[in-house]
Amino acid sequence: MKRLIQTLTETFSPSGYEGAIRDVIRKEVKPLAAELRVDALGNLIARKGTKGGKRIMIAGHMDEIGLIVNHVDENGFLRFTTIGGIRPHTLTGGRVRFMDGTPGVIGTDFSKDAGRLPAVDQCFIDIGATSAGDCPIKVGDVCAFERPFLDLGKRLVAKSMDDRIGCAVMIETMRALKSSPHEVYFVFSTQEEVGLRGAQTATFGLDPEIGISIDVTLTGDTPKARQMAVSLGRGPAIKIRDGGMLADPRVVDWMIRSAEKARLPYQREVLEGGTTDAKAMQVSRAGVPAGCISIPSRYVHSPSEMVDHDDVQNAVKLLTTMLSKPVEL
Ligand code: CO
Ligand code: ZN
Repeated sequence: MKRLIQTLTETFSPSGYEGAIRDVIRKEVKPLAAELRVDALGNLIARKGTKGGKRIMIAGHMDEIGLIVNHVDENGFLRFTTIGGIRPHTLTGGRVRFMDGTPGVIGTDFSKDAGRLPAVDQCFIDIGATSAGDCPIKVGDVCAFERPFLDLGKRLVAKSMDDRIGCAVMIETMRALKSSPHEVYFVFSTQEEVGLRGAQTATFGLDPEIGISIDVTLTGDTPKARQMAVSLGRGPAIKIRDGGMLADPRVVDWMIRSAEKARLPYQREVLEGGTTDAKAMQVSRAGVPAGCISIPSRYVHSPSEMVDHDDVQNAVKLLTTMLSKPVEL
C-alpha cells in the first residue's frame, strides 16, 4: 500500500486540474469497478456492489492545494495567489512544480524585520527565467508543492496526504470488498479544497441514501498543539463534528458499532474548523445522512503532511466491514 500512497502523493493535481491524478486513480480502480465514469466536473465515479441495493456514496477528494500565477514581471518572477487554504509560513524556501513540469522555488521580498512572516503577496516563484521573454509560465498557470514521499516506517510523510490518503483508503477498500449488498459509489471528487464543489454536483447526480467522506483531520499530539483528542496511531477518527457539519448520529453509531464489532481501534473526532465532502453530501437535494471517517494527520496543508500507516490500514478495514453488511440507520 505504501507504493500506492507514494504514487498518489507524488502526482501534481491542484483543484480544477485533476486530470493527472484522475488518470492514475482510473488505472488502479478500473479492474475493481463494475462501472466507471467521469462527470462534468471531473469527478471519477466507480460503482461496486449490488445494483438496486442501498445507494451509498463514498467520497474522497483527489485535488490538492496549490498556487496560481497572477503576474509575471519583466525579469520573469511570478507573483501568485493560492488555490485552497495555504498559509505563507509554509511557502518560504519551498519548491513547486507546474502542470507542464516546470519546477520553481519560492522567494520573498526583503524585509528589515527578519522575524516577520511575509504575506502571500510578498512571495514570488523563481523558475530560473532571466526575463519575461524566456519565462514559459503565464498568468493563470497553476503549480503544487514539490516534495518527495517519505517513508519513516510507521509514519508516512508527503505533500498531499490531504486527501490522496483518502483516495488510497478508497482504492484499497474497493480491492478488499469481496461483496456488498449495497450499490456503492466511490467518488474521487474534484475541487474540494476550493469549496467541496465536485462532491456537491456528484451527490446531486447520484442521489445517495447515505454519504461518507474519507479525509484527513488534525491532531492534538504534537508539542504545544491546540487541544484536540485525536492522535496519530490510535485508529481512524470517526467524525462527530467539524467546522461545517454535525455528522448524522445514526451514521456515527453505525461506524462505532462496526469498529467495535470488528475490534478495530477508533477515535471520536471533534474538529474546531475545516470540513469535508460530507458537508456537501449532507445538505444535497432534500438532505442525506452523512458522516466521515478521518485519517489523523499532522501538519495538514503544509508540504509535509504526516499520517500513521496503521491508522490508514484500520480505516480500510473499518470501511470494508461497514460496506460488507446490510445496514438500517
Ligand atoms: Co484540505
Ligand atoms: Zn481534505
